[in-house]
Amino acid sequence: MNTYDIHIKNGEVIDGTGAPKFKSDIVVDKGKIIGVFPPNHDDVREKSEKHFLSSFKARNTINAEGKIISPGFIDVHTHDDHNVFSDPSMTCKISQGVTTCIVGNCGISLAPFSYKGDVPAPIALLGKSDNFKFPRVKDYVDEFNNNPSTVNVALLTGHSMLRVEAMKGEFDRPANSKEINQMIDNLMLAVEDGSIGMSTGLAYPAANAAPTNEIIELVKILPKMNGVFTTHMRNEAIDVIKSVKETIEICSSTKVRTIISHHKCAGRDNWGKSKETLKLINEAKQNNFLDLDCYPYTASSTMLLKSFVKRADKVLVTWSDNYPDVSGQDLNDLADNFGLTIDETIDKLYPAGAIYFQMGDDDLNRILKFDGSMVGSDGIPGDRHPHPRLWGTFPRVLGKYSREMKLFPLEEAVYKMTGKSASVFGLEKRGTINIGNFADLVIFNPDTVIDKASYQSPMLHADGIENVFVNGKMVWQNNLSTENRPGMFLEGKKFN
Ligand code: ZN
Ligand code: CU
Repeated sequence: MNTYDIHIKNGEVIDGTGAPKFKSDIVVDKGKIIGVFPPNHDDVREKSEKHFLSSFKARNTINAEGKIISPGFIDVHTHDDHNVFSDPSMTCKISQGVTTCIVGNCGISLAPFSYKGDVPAPIALLGKSDNFKFPRVKDYVDEFNNNPSTVNVALLTGHSMLRVEAMKGEFDRPANSKEINQMIDNLMLAVEDGSIGMSTGLAYPAANAAPTNEIIELVKILPKMNGVFTTHMRNEAIDVIKSVKETIEICSSTKVRTIISHHKCAGRDNWGKSKETLKLINEAKQNNFLDLDCYPYTASSTMLLKSFVKRADKVLVTWSDNYPDVSGQDLNDLADNFGLTIDETIDKLYPAGAIYFQMGDDDLNRILKFDGSMVGSDGIPGDRHPHPRLWGTFPRVLGKYSREMKLFPLEEAVYKMTGKSASVFGLEKRGTINIGNFADLVIFNPDTVIDKASYQSPMLHADGIENVFVNGKMVWQNNLSTENRPGMFLEGKKFN
């Protein structure tokens, strides 16, 4: 009799394609899904039974009665570049059912980077200068393979890193052609080394002076459909529509698969603009590959910057190098306590991070529900008092937005965090429950799954995530992480 690693019994499967759930057992061996037994899907059943001509034994049998078995969630928007090394348990993510993190978003990536001068905002979100020790993506991949985390990792190359390096810190102007050529060489090398594409952070000082054409010159070398392009757009507030148009121009002139990062309409004056942005995106989707990611909260978070503070209803400080104790406090209260103006307070605290309450629920619901949207946390792991999205994003979409608010069925919620994400980012044999796929799996309770992290207590793990497997190894059980570190570095498929 054959013996296999894991037999998950009696659960209901949501397979990550958006298809209706079905009752089925799942069998896992050597890191892969080798058996799926749905009663009404004869084609799948027949494929499975080639492996199971006789009965079998399993080293680990799990009863998933009343639970959902789904593909592991893919966090398409993270800043976990350094976190996977400093906390390889990645509890903030596996406790949500996340099994793959895409790092290097918003124009900032730990690799490739060898510039030694002062780094502009927001590069400091990835930590202190000694974290930046990977001149090539290859060096980062080697480090990860030598010290894997619980989760799989795929890496975007940050445009700001290419820029600061090629321009030797003079990022305040457009790059000249020599500098663009150097960025192109470095980007090509990064993709050859295993990066899945390029990200930008055009709203930030490090990249704001880059004209559209500079971006197009770079994006167009991402061999057609081979690498992806993700963008934290130039403006997410008063000029959000203009920024969406700029993104569509880049996407349609390069034909590269494009993802708008953490799409939002920031500032009360701009609430409602998502009707127009989504219409534009939908039209562009007819002839281009254009999608977006978002997180299920109406507050954003990044560095503490004056231009961002102005349009927010309320600002919480998440960290400050000079005043570590202010983490979690309201910026207005701090200004009162210091007896300073808001601007003076920002100068005093800087470098620092903040949470900005500045989005409307209607826009958030519309964006989350949109056909082209995926779930990405945008969590910032180094913060002393992080935005709760770091620990809560995925269970919140399942529990609050799907179960309680009925914004979409559970199958669609799962699709936005698994199958859709894997196909957009080219992560092969991930994101769906299929025979031969890697066994990245989550077992969760559909009646109780919910986020617990809040703005007051942001580092609480979710309820209802029962078991999580990465490459066939259990990483989360009984509300604790295990000792396994099975994460793999994912290079992404070559499209075309
Ligand atoms: Zn961003
Ligand atoms: Cu981000």
